[in-house]
Amino acid sequence: MKSLEGKHIVLGITGGIAAYKSAVLLRLLIKRGAEVQVVMTPAAKEFITPVTLSTLSGKPVVSEFFTANTGEWHSHVDLGLWADLMVVAPATASTLGKMANGIADNMLVTTYLSAKEHVMVAPAMDLDMYASPSTQRNLATLASDGVEIIEAAEGELASHLVGKGRMAEPEAIVERVEQFFSRRHDMAGMKVAITVGPTYEKIDPVRFIGNYSSGKMGFALAEECASRGAEVIAIAGPVTNYPSNPSIRVLKVESAEEMNAEALKVCASADVSIFAAAVADYRPERVSDHKIKRENSEDMTIRLVRNPDIARNVAELKKDGQTLVGFALETDDALNNAERKLEKKNLDMMVLNSLEDKGAGFRTDTNKVTVITRDGFRKAFPLKSKKEVATDIVDMILELRKKQ
Ligand code: C5P
Repeated sequence: MKSLEGKHIVLGITGGIAAYKSAVLLRLLIKRGAEVQVVMTPAAKEFITPVTLSTLSGKPVVSEFFTANTGEWHSHVDLGLWADLMVVAPATASTLGKMANGIADNMLVTTYLSAKEHVMVAPAMDLDMYASPSTQRNLATLASDGVEIIEAAEGELASHLVGKGRMAEPEAIVERVEQFFSRRHDMAGMKVAITVGPTYEKIDPVRFIGNYSSGKMGFALAEECASRGAEVIAIAGPVTNYPSNPSIRVLKVESAEEMNAEALKVCASADVSIFAAAVADYRPERVSDHKIKRENSEDMTIRLVRNPDIARNVAELKKDGQTLVGFALETDDALNNAERKLEKKNLDMMVLNSLEDKGAGFRTDTNKVTVITRDGFRKAFPLKSKKEVATDIVDMILELRKKQ
């Protein structure tokens, strides 16, 4: 069977020089069995003719809201529902800006706003336009709206300047499309438990011991697993942003002890448990029931006692077929420490992020990780968005489960 057999793809084409490559992209998608509906912006027609594209796709190209001489209305809502995937290639600075801000003045942007499924964009423009704060801001907005950005490549541009702004090659775009479909259901039927965010350990009614964890990495993993068909339960400490995805169940907890109790219940029946929470190692021995007053002495002592190690407790009850994944945030001798932790906690995989790496760790939108497994496998990934890191981690978990 062809890799894209039966898949419905909307190919959005905008007005840039790279539009000539869209014909090749379309041909490759069709060859792999996809059904493709081309939607062009009016400006795109200046660069490639609708005749070429309708001949290759076997469908009339859609560009206007209605056909002028017959008054036939083209429904962007129907197209949005029909599509399993929308790919905008090339995506000009103008279209990216309209998509990011909901400016629905053409058929392509209205189709994007109605799209129910995944959307990818392959930007193409001159290097300065690509690097401009406006374009970068629009790309960041689209990424946070869940749009997959197929980064432009470096090379010679239409202006004969050399830099970043060339549309990714059609073959590379098709590869991303194939990856999207092969990942879409690869966690179907699986139950995933994820601990997320910080824990707050009460000192008195108004104070606590906490940490800077934002829960971003944990929720990116939750989103990734849900998008791949898993049933996801997140056991989350106090954070400001919770996922809106209805297929992620969030159990809100505050302290390590509460998180531990929920995790023991949920992880018992989970196929995959991921410990992404930054759990406080200690809590105050005594929680004062009134606000502790400032006293005359220059110092004060709060005695702390050890919190439960949630990952370790879950691992003690591990059953065959379950996969347990921990995170390690190390400041020195990172790999060796992470390896020791993997053993000590009896986990199957450890994701190491080092605080030494710029852009990795707490409160950032990016992360740089190394994945290590019990059988001695190590893989270091470059700095990526937390969403992309989540994809890599889940790919690795599924690889490991094939061997388990
Ligand atoms: O020992 P350390 O805190 O560095 O280990 C980190 C890993 O263990 C993370 O996956 C974290 O979520 C988990 N952990 C836990 N309960 C604790 C401490 C850490 O589940 N009390």
